Amino acid sequence: MRSLFASLTLLVVAMAVPVAVAQKIQLSVDVSRAGAKIDRNLFGQFAEHLGHGVYEGIWVGPDSKFPNTRGIRNDVVAALKAIKVPNVRWPGGCFADEYHWRKGIGQQRTVTLNPNWGGVIEPNTFGTTEFMDFLEQIGAEAYLSVNVGSGTPQEASEWLEYLTTAQPTTLAKERAANGHPAPYKVAFLGIGNESWDCGGNMTPDYYLSQMKIYSRFVRNFNPAQQDKQQMLKIAVGPGGGEPRWTEWTETVMKAYQSHTWSWDMNGLSMHSYTVVKWPPSFASVGFGETEYAQILKSTLEMNDLVEKHSAIMDKYDPEKKVALVVDEWGGWYASLPGSTPGFLVQQNSLRDAVLAALNLNIFARHADRVRMANIAQMISVLQAMILTDKGEMVLTPTYYVYKMYVPFQDASFVPVSFEADTYTHGDVTLPRVDAIAAKDKAGKLWLAITNVDPNQSAEIELTLAGINAKSAAGETLSAPRVDSVNTFDAPNTVVPKPISAKAQDGKLLLELAPKSVTVVAVEQ
Ligand code: AHR
Repeated sequence: MRSLFASLTLLVVAMAVPVAVAQKIQLSVDVSRAGAKIDRNLFGQFAEHLGHGVYEGIWVGPDSKFPNTRGIRNDVVAALKAIKVPNVRWPGGCFADEYHWRKGIGQQRTVTLNPNWGGVIEPNTFGTTEFMDFLEQIGAEAYLSVNVGSGTPQEASEWLEYLTTAQPTTLAKERAANGHPAPYKVAFLGIGNESWDCGGNMTPDYYLSQMKIYSRFVRNFNPAQQDKQQMLKIAVGPGGGEPRWTEWTETVMKAYQSHTWSWDMNGLSMHSYTVVKWPPSFASVGFGETEYAQILKSTLEMNDLVEKHSAIMDKYDPEKKVALVVDEWGGWYASLPGSTPGFLVQQNSLRDAVLAALNLNIFARHADRVRMANIAQMISVLQAMILTDKGEMVLTPTYYVYKMYVPFQDASFVPVSFEADTYTHGDVTLPRVDAIAAKDKAGKLWLAITNVDPNQSAEIELTLAGINAKSAAGETLSAPRVDSVNTFDAPNTVVPKPISAKAQDGKLLLELAPKSVTVVAVEQ
């Protein structure tokens, strides 16, 4: 009798335990409701003189045994061309506020130090000419950060005259003597970097007075950039959600509201790393589901941060003339054991691919205000596209997300509605899926869907109003583990694979692997 009772109890308990079956995700897209343009500059990069980001990563020198064009690595150029890098922010970062451009031009370069990043020698062999050549090789635009911290408005204005004037000034002749008679185009000008911290520990008011001076005197003289394609000036903005950042955004945007003809700004920068807590302690490889969930929870805070600072900007700039420029973002983890201190070397895993997709989706959803973003950093530093080791190169999972998202560059945002369902691990609960859609210039509809859940695949039922969808096909990125990485020995562990949707009853059905990022184009 006792054992019968025990068995019955067990049976009842077993019946009460919910079976882990993930529900289908209904996703619907109304193609007639195209929204803001997803500016291609949201897919910008950041290359600081830091670790091997520039030296070795981009620059090996013309005499190198590694294949190069005028000193710039051919393998890296080819890889970056494939992701259509729209712009590169350079030379920093904290480095920018100690950079003196004259040391990096001409035949004789001044050898200095890089006190911010390991205190190593800065040979200045990669300077203005080399950076502009690199941009030309990869087909990207220049986002120059000028030195507000330890430089002067005169130094910065002469740099811009050197770069952009078409008139035969002494500086233009010097540029011609250095190999470039035609003026360069400078699309973006960053006025300082983190001026509230490494850029000079300024108060908002002090920075504002400096920024106005730089905005007034650092001019772009390129004749092709006077009416159309004017250089956009980007002011230093917040570095987080705390009250001091609110005050910073308030101060700068309030001043913008009543700015006069003599100064202007077109963008407000924002920096936000996914770090959980400083100093960065999460491992970039060799972690488990707990760290996967914690990092993704932390990265989703980007959404609130964007909305918080956008709301302040809306108060003073309701027409959204000033862009919110998230020009430093990405996962910042503990440096790899054995790597050079200060070089910020980390691996890049499938978790970073998911992290990148979630952030790009946040930016796209706020495309009316967020019109530029620069992941930190492009090569071998923090959440990189590419890792190098002397002559070797490996493409990271984040690189592949950027490659898959190319069709979203300058496409029109199309709202997607869906119930995301949830994924829970320990005390972390996250949306199980995330998705964006966009229509490209040719009218083709693209969808990017991320399955955050590392344990269950996601069945997507896609309803498309306004088009007669026959099929959808594209690529999906996943891997065996949340911390799967590509290495020099095994470069193809995390690479995109083809995926297609089945049509059924007027819907498209997609099955997405656990922990995956998928981009498909809809065929009509
Ligand atoms: O990207 C590394 C550093 O992070 C940058 O130099 C600085 O702007 C930020 O604090």
